[in-house]
Amino acid sequence: MADTGSERWFARATKVIAGGVNSPARSFRGVGGDPPVVMKRGQGAYLFDVDGRRYIDYLAAFGPLVLGHAHPEVIAAVRSTAGEGSLLGTPCPLEIELAEELVRAVPGLEQVRLTTTGTEAVMSSIRLARAFTGRSLIIKFEGAYHGHSDGVLVRAGSGASSIGTADSLGVPTGVTGDVISLPFNDGQAVRRVFEEAGNRVAAILTEPVVGNMGIVLPQPGFLQDLAALAKKAGALLIFDEVITAFRFHYGPVATQLGVIPDLYALGKIIGGGLPAGAYGGRAEIMRSVAPLGGMFQAGTLAGNPLSSAAGLATLRVLREEQPYDRMDRFAEALAGGIEERAHSQGIAATVNRLGSGFTLFFGETPVTDYTTAQAADAGRFGRFHQLMLSRGVYLAPSRYEAWFVSAAHGQDDLAKTLDAVDWSLRALKTAG
Ligand SMILES: Cc1ncc(COP(=O)(O)O)c(C=O)c1O
Repeated sequence: MADTGSERWFARATKVIAGGVNSPARSFRGVGGDPPVVMKRGQGAYLFDVDGRRYIDYLAAFGPLVLGHAHPEVIAAVRSTAGEGSLLGTPCPLEIELAEELVRAVPGLEQVRLTTTGTEAVMSSIRLARAFTGRSLIIKFEGAYHGHSDGVLVRAGSGASSIGTADSLGVPTGVTGDVISLPFNDGQAVRRVFEEAGNRVAAILTEPVVGNMGIVLPQPGFLQDLAALAKKAGALLIFDEVITAFRFHYGPVATQLGVIPDLYALGKIIGGGLPAGAYGGRAEIMRSVAPLGGMFQAGTLAGNPLSSAAGLATLRVLREEQPYDRMDRFAEALAGGIEERAHSQGIAATVNRLGSGFTLFFGETPVTDYTTAQAADAGRFGRFHQLMLSRGVYLAPSRYEAWFVSAAHGQDDLAKTLDAVDWSLRALKTAG
C-alpha cells in the first residue's frame, strides 16, 4: 500500500499517463527508480511536495525559472494578461514587444519567429538552414539534446563519426540519414567532414556550452573553428541557446564566448515558465520563412499573450536587476564546496561550471565530451540524488543535467545545501 502522497499520486498517474510522466526526464528511473516526488507547488527557491515537504530546488524546471518559482512580477503579468484573453490568433503587442526585447539583447538576431517550445525552435532553424542553403546535411554532436523532433534524435556511437543512427524507435532512417553526429570539442572530426562533403553541409548545430551531457564547456578555439569552417563552405552555424541564453548574463552565451552564429534557437527562460521558444538570425535568412519565403513553419499557440507576458516580465527583471553576479557567486561557493567535501572524503568528483549552472560528475577524468561524461559513476550519482532528496534538496533526476542556481536562492539555502552535501557524501563513503 502506498503511504506517501507522492506514491498515491504516482500510482494514479501510471494508470493514465504513459510511464506516469509527461516527459521522461521527470522519471526517477535514472537515479534508482520511481516513484518520483510529486510536487504541488513552487515558491521562490523551493518546491513543495503533495505532503507539504519543502525542497531547495536546483532543477529550476530544467532551466526556465531563473528568477525562482512564482516571481511576483511574472505572476502579476500573467494575471493581468489572462484577464484580456489568453489567445487571440492575431498579431498582438506582447509578442511584438518580446521579439523586440530579444532582438535588442541578442547580437546577430535581426529577426525572430516565436514558437511554443525549444523543440520547434531547433527543428525550424534546421529546416530554415536547409531551405536557405539548398543543402541537406546537418552536423551535430554526440550526447547533445536538441529537443525531440525526428531529425535530431541522432547521437551515434562514440569515437568515430557515424551517420544516421536514430536514438528513438519510430524515427525512419530517411530522416536521420542526413545528420552526422561527431564528438563535441573535436575540431578535427568536423574538419574531416567538411573536407569530404563541405558543399553538402547545410548547418552545424550545437549548444555553444553544452547543457545536456551535464555542463560541458567548449575548448578554446573550438567554436571559432566551427564558425570558420561553416563560413568557408557556405554552411550556417546554428547555436541552440535554449538553455544558455539569459542564463549566464543578459543575452546569449555566444556573446561571452565571442562567436556569433548565423541562427539561434531559444527557449526556456524567454517564456518565463510558460511555453515559448524562438528562432532567428539575419534578416536575409529570415526572409526564407513563410509568408515571405518558401520555408513553412507555423503555430496556433506561437507568440501567445500569456507566454509573451511571462517571458517579457522575466527578461525585464533580469535586465533591470542583473542578478547574475550574485547567482554566479552562489554557484561558485556551492560547486567549490561540493568539490572540497568530495575530495576530503576521498570521493572522486569533478564539477563543470559556467556561472550559475554546473554539473557534478562522480569521476576524476575531466569531462569534455559525451564519452567522458558517460564514464562518470552513474550508480554513485543515483545514490547521491536519493540522499540529497532525503535531506530536502531537489536535483535533476539525471546525471546528465545541470544544477541551476536561481536569483531566489539565498545564503541560508547555500548553507543548508552544503550541509546536505556533507551528510550525503559521508553516507556515500560509508556505503562504499
Ligand atoms: C539545448 C536544448 N535544446 C532544445 C530543447 C527542447 O526544448 P523543449 O523541451 O522546450 O521542447 C531542450 C530541452 O531541454 C534543450 O535543453
